[in-house]
Amino acid sequence: MTATATKPRSKSNVEPLLEIRGLKKYFPVKKGILNRVVGSVKAVDGLSFDVYPNETVGLVGESGCGKTTAGRSILRLLEPSEGQILFRGSDIVEADTKEMRRLRRNLQIIFQDPYSSLNPRMTVEDIIGEAIKFHGIASGNDEIRRQVQDLLERVGLQPSYVTRYPHEFSGGQRQRIGIARALALNPDFIVCDEAVSALDVSVQAQVINLLLDLQDEFNLSYLFIAHDLSVVRHISDRIAVMYLGQIMELAECETLFSNALHPYTQSLLSAIPQPNPRRKIDRVILKGDVPSPMNPPTGCRFHTRCPACYEPCDTVQPRSVEVAPGHEVACHLYDQEYAPTDPSIWNRLPRLPRPNGDAKLPPGVAEVIEEITPGASLDRDGDSDGVQREDQDAGDAQAHASSDVSDFEDEEIFTQESSQPSEEHEEDDITDDSNDAEEDGVEKVDDGDKSTSSETPESGEQESDADDESEDDKLVASEEESDAKS
Ligand SMILES: Nc1ncnc2c1ncn2[C@@H]1O[C@H](COP(=O)(O)OP(=O)(O)OP(=O)(O)O)[C@@H](O)[C@H]1O
Ligand code: SF4
Ligand SMILES: [Mg+2]
Repeated sequence: MTATATKPRSKSNVEPLLEIRGLKKYFPVKKGILNRVVGSVKAVDGLSFDVYPNETVGLVGESGCGKTTAGRSILRLLEPSEGQILFRGSDIVEADTKEMRRLRRNLQIIFQDPYSSLNPRMTVEDIIGEAIKFHGIASGNDEIRRQVQDLLERVGLQPSYVTRYPHEFSGGQRQRIGIARALALNPDFIVCDEAVSALDVSVQAQVINLLLDLQDEFNLSYLFIAHDLSVVRHISDRIAVMYLGQIMELAECETLFSNALHPYTQSLLSAIPQPNPRRKIDRVILKGDVPSPMNPPTGCRFHTRCPACYEPCDTVQPRSVEVAPGHEVACHLYDQEYAPTDPSIWNRLPRLPRPNGDAKLPPGVAEVIEEITPGASLDRDGDSDGVQREDQDAGDAQAHASSDVSDFEDEEIFTQESSQPSEEHEEDDITDDSNDAEEDGVEKVDDGDKSTSSETPESGEQESDADDESEDDKLVASEEESDAKS
């Protein structure tokens, strides 16, 4: 079961389950013998987004950007400093103890660490049954045990495990117990805080599939916090990208992966390892560390590390702009009021690997740019603006520009073009690979060996559907053959 197969839904006619508006959580910093407050850690600084029924919103970002604080503040496990959290219209922040106790049944959390989140002195029955008992959902020990056994079965564990202690389970099984505990009160919304990060890959897949099954069965909504983008992509309907306590970009899952607009999102995506090491990508290595949330940079929080930073970025805080329905970006680049007049600034955005192979700009971005900065030079490799990208070579540009060719065909095009550069390419001003690639903060990932001979005897056959590996073998074989001939 895949997340996207059952998911994308129209949100136009559905009321949000949760509406988060301007959520802030500041932790006071105290110093001295008098414990005076000398500042505050702005862990979450103005989050606004909605969560719809039966939806999973992924929350990603670097360590320390405030994901956990956001998740806990939304559940009021941490008292928010400011903002509104509306659950079915009623404000969680304003709720009194009695109201909060009622709301708590609908709002649950699955913790990251399956080892420390379960009390080692309690049996599984006590751990899962505690909330059932507290909220008076079942009366009598027999009824509680029956409900706990049902829940254990639902999460793929034996009902007979009720009497066991946490140390008698594997990590994956413990996480399932944590999930059963979260489900015990039949909630509508669960924060999954790095719920699978501590598990090995195969167990991760099992737990994610379990979460997806349970979502369909119980009509759950998740806020799925994680740093592994592939996991988030698998499970999420929409993804919010956080940096230093704020959301930088929010979009439907596939839109975010195919058309990331914010420079920070682009840098995160460029860091995903590519299955094909021969495919050349612009890897954006962000300079410096994440600034302190005690003293975040003025203007755009990302400006100290942004490859595209320009004039208003260090003074004016970007507002969230909806560039397409449901796709919000907090970046001046996409804001009509502050969009750059110097077209070369666009050239500093990285070139990301795209399924359709667009080498120069992410699909859709060209249209957005044209709308914002009419007439901007979209030739990202051109030298008209003096920010020439010198990390390209002819083969690479060609290979990425051909939208649906296989990786092997990319290699083939490279071989032909690089051995006999055409006049067209010279006109295109595609420059040599050997120059400094770090000039614009973009590091190129090596494409592997490009020295394949163009005399490959089997070149005609190699456009077949064979997979990359067998094609590679053919190339090596034909190289050896041509070596032998010479
Ligand atoms: N109780 C606290 N008191 C003071 N500062 C805190 C507290 N909890 C978190 N912080 C600070 O708030 C910021 C955000 O922390 P948080 O745990 O939310 O980050 P995160 O995005 O979940 O990180 P990770 O991916 O490592 O889990 C950090 O700078 C952290 O030091
Ligand atoms: S607002 Fe400026 S500094 Fe911030 S991400 Fe956009 S271009 Fe970069
Ligand atoms: Mg965390």
